[in-house]
Amino acid sequence: MRVMVTGAQGCIGAWVVKRLIDRGVDIMVYDRDLNPARLSMIASKEEIDKVVFEQGQIEDADRIKTLVKDGGITHIIHLAAVLMPYCQANPISGGMINVMGTLNVFEAARDAGREVRVSYASSSAVWGPEEAYEKRALNENDPLHPATHYGVFKQANEGNARVFYTANGISSVGLRPWTVYGVGRDGGLTAGPSLAMRAIANGQPFTIGVTGFMDLQYVEDVAEMFIRGAIADLPGAHVFNLAGEIVSMEQLIELLDKIRPGAAKLISAAGNQVPVAFRMDATAIHEKLPGLPQTPLEEGARKSIEIFEKLRG
Ligand SMILES: NC(=O)c1ccc[n+]([C@@H]2O[C@H](COP(=O)([O-])OP(=O)(O)OC[C@H]3O[C@@H](n4cnc5c(N)ncnc54)[C@H](O)[C@@H]3O)[C@@H](O)[C@H]2O)c1
Repeated sequence: MRVMVTGAQGCIGAWVVKRLIDRGVDIMVYDRDLNPARLSMIASKEEIDKVVFEQGQIEDADRIKTLVKDGGITHIIHLAAVLMPYCQANPISGGMINVMGTLNVFEAARDAGREVRVSYASSSAVWGPEEAYEKRALNENDPLHPATHYGVFKQANEGNARVFYTANGISSVGLRPWTVYGVGRDGGLTAGPSLAMRAIANGQPFTIGVTGFMDLQYVEDVAEMFIRGAIADLPGAHVFNLAGEIVSMEQLIELLDKIRPGAAKLISAAGNQVPVAFRMDATAIHEKLPGLPQTPLEEGARKSIEIFEKLRG
């Protein structure tokens, strides 16, 4: 077993790599960024030295094909992408990275000459705003009405994954995280909760740039779900909602104040609700992949603040 992790220098990727190192798995990182800055926050130098780092663009189809084929890759966890604000401002370049990049990964799996299973990051942004739906938890059979280019790109990837299964037999698992939080999360529209936890650890004021509700999912749990999605014996092209804990930004600030009294004086929230429905039914993933971790928000926030405090030291 040899796993390629694309976008592994990012927030979720760093935790995926850390958990794969803990499992003793052979890992190849593929990312345009060579600096393991986020991984260094959670793994030792000796651990990082076990990983092979390949620098490259996800748009480079030939390079990815060669690495997968000649590098003996058996599983790909595909996370490389640009996030919602970038795609909204740069739809062409965003599409090249998020859609063409995902096609490159699937083509590499198709042409590897051995079975290669793929798990890849879709997003809850495939759902439209809350107002587009009845007030109930949405399951994978409900219609998608994405309101952003980013969401449309992710929907396209889910469709392409389906066709790679029906046409080429490539099995895949696509996951739709909502807001992933924890150490390493520092970019994108929904990074606010993690940046607030970091600010609390540093004793600094911080304003979360959105208001309203989010479904918060602890990064280590989400990383484990991507790994389980890749290694599961699950033929077909599967797509799963993820669900963590839904909180308003006021409730989040209250919780952070409970964990570190005084935090409410440092943290505020201003801006709009994220334009994505936030009530997700995640029954399907727990049925297909039993035993997935589900860290309560209070515990995940506490762990994150503790790591940020250690890093400050
Ligand atoms: N973080 C969340 O809350 C969240 C929610 C839903 C979906 N997702 C999806 O999960 C995946 C990982 O998200 P994240 O939060 O870790 O993002 P991140 O921004 O922290 O990491 C993305 C990584 O992709 C790499 N990358 C970007 N463009 C690239 C390119 N052209 N070629 C090669 N590498 C490139 C970056 O260098 C970075 O290391 C993404 O696909 C994202 O859309 C994240």
